[in-house]
Amino acid sequence: MSRFLNALWVSLLIASPALAQQAADAVAPEAESQTTAVFDDLSPDIQTALEAKRNGQPVEAQEWMIAAANPRAVQAGAKILENGGTAADAMVAVQAMLGLVEPQSSGLGGGAFLVWFDGASGEITTLDGRETAPLAATPTLFQDDAGEPLQFYDAVVGGRSVGTPGTPRLLEEAHRRWGQANWSGLFDDAILLAENGFPVSPRLAELVAGDAERLARFEPTAAYFFPGGNAIAEGDTLTNAAYADTLRQLARHGSDAFYTGPIAQDIVATVRGADGNPGVLSTTDLGLYRVIERPAVCVEYRAHDVCGMGPPSSGALAVGQILGMLDRYDLATLGATSPEAWRLIGDASRLAFADRGRYVADSDFVPVPVEGMLEPAYLDGRAALLSGDDALPEVAPGTPEFDHAGLWADDDSIELPSTSHISIVDSHGNALSMTTTIENGFGSRLFVRGFLLNNELTDFSFSTHSDGIPIANRVEPGKRPRSSMSPTIVLKDDAPVMVVGSPGGSRIIGYVVNAIVAYLDWGMNVQEAVSQPHLVNRFGTYDIEADTPAGSLQEPLTALGYEVNARALTSGLHAIALDGGLSGGADPRREGIAFGR
Ligand code: GLY
Repeated sequence: MSRFLNALWVSLLIASPALAQQAADAVAPEAESQTTAVFDDLSPDIQTALEAKRNGQPVEAQEWMIAAANPRAVQAGAKILENGGTAADAMVAVQAMLGLVEPQSSGLGGGAFLVWFDGASGEITTLDGRETAPLAATPTLFQDDAGEPLQFYDAVVGGRSVGTPGTPRLLEEAHRRWGQANWSGLFDDAILLAENGFPVSPRLAELVAGDAERLARFEPTAAYFFPGGNAIAEGDTLTNAAYADTLRQLARHGSDAFYTGPIAQDIVATVRGADGNPGVLSTTDLGLYRVIERPAVCVEYRAHDVCGMGPPSSGALAVGQILGMLDRYDLATLGATSPEAWRLIGDASRLAFADRGRYVADSDFVPVPVEGMLEPAYLDGRAALLSGDDALPEVAPGTPEFDHAGLWADDDSIELPSTSHISIVDSHGNALSMTTTIENGFGSRLFVRGFLLNNELTDFSFSTHSDGIPIANRVEPGKRPRSSMSPTIVLKDDAPVMVVGSPGGSRIIGYVVNAIVAYLDWGMNVQEAVSQPHLVNRFGTYDIEADTPAGSLQEPLTALGYEVNARALTSGLHAIALDGGLSGGADPRREGIAFGR
């Protein structure tokens, strides 16, 4: 084990600001995003939060806090919280702004999952605002005429991949349940900025340049991201009058303005008219869309309750299984730099992914053994598989107790990282954790009424069966694709102690686990917990974050029997810890900040 790595990660344990800075720098592949001038016009308080992040320090507050992926979105939400609004109110303002300044990751054309801790009742509620497959979708949606799965981007780009968006209804439902501020006012800042223009951030500019070919396929998309034929560049002022108009309709008429009438008709026309790859979405699909309240999925870990989103997300189940297995081992003594700790984390994750691939899908369509997968005796058995010294030579799904007979094959869905995460604690004692997405960066690449449409349907398995056995996560009309999004609230004695989540495709699960373990087992503060170098193992290969101290684990993990792959691991963790006061951390790999009062 490298002495340097030990020294660095021990520094995280003793919370030295200087060494924490070193750690933050070491995991900032998009470091330019942190030093950009495009946020210089924001308030001095926001500048202080940006500075704290640059220095690898958590942001401290007493009354409320917000952590999200763009400082402008954080500022919009902070204004609502400052005026006594709830976390649900602030979330609406944040999401409206993210749809403008971070359009590639989430927005009105996508879906989201929300976990809510209610300060008054002490209850956890989870809302499913996931996209749905159109009623005209068939299980072979992503297969060619020969029944072979399509290439990923052949499926993604165009109308075929677009599910009925859920985000606008979710915003309204969250506000209806828990909001206090006037609904229409929550869109004011985003409308103003869309009309007046905002400076393009480095991340948006870089991603547009990198996706030019796909974005250029559809004229409205090209016109927005390549005005005059040139890609928008960092610092360019970008206006979006169509988005301002859509928000105004939502503000005045509620989400019906999106799901019925001219906006719905334009969405459908765009999907069905997508040149070369049309989809089957209809105005009936939009009119039928509803947000679903689901039972929260919670697991006990180190005498805390870790709660999140159940099916159709695999997030809370996988995070819960991994933590449930790890609870049987002493990670605190092993420490953050121990190959043995990462062997346990990596193989617990592989076991959870094996179950996920076999059993998890939309539970309104297939029976999912949620209770069986988290049952203590079942986790005992799975955890016992980790008791050796080396990497497991192979892993297979277990046999959790089912209350319904089922025979399922493993799925083959592909998930690539994009997405955004919002964590908020308000002055009323509420906490909100919401992961929001249009799936791939820029989603389907279809742009209508000022926003991008999702490609969420490619989160389904492209194959329907394997050796004649049906795959749980296959496409079916009206079904919601399995997700990895893991919006999480950690409770101690029924009170929240950590609000956390991340983008990152199916690596979201590993990122969230790593942050929780870092905070609860390794004593890192919340900024250190989101900044620490990532190591993630889903299917056998150990991904370790390139150009970080995690590289020093390459040799020991290889010696344990893993194939190791050093690569960028671009999480976007946003976390708030409640430890008497509030402290917030924002992922150095992205442009966001934590901010509070
Ligand atoms: N599309 C990312 C996810 O739902 O996991």
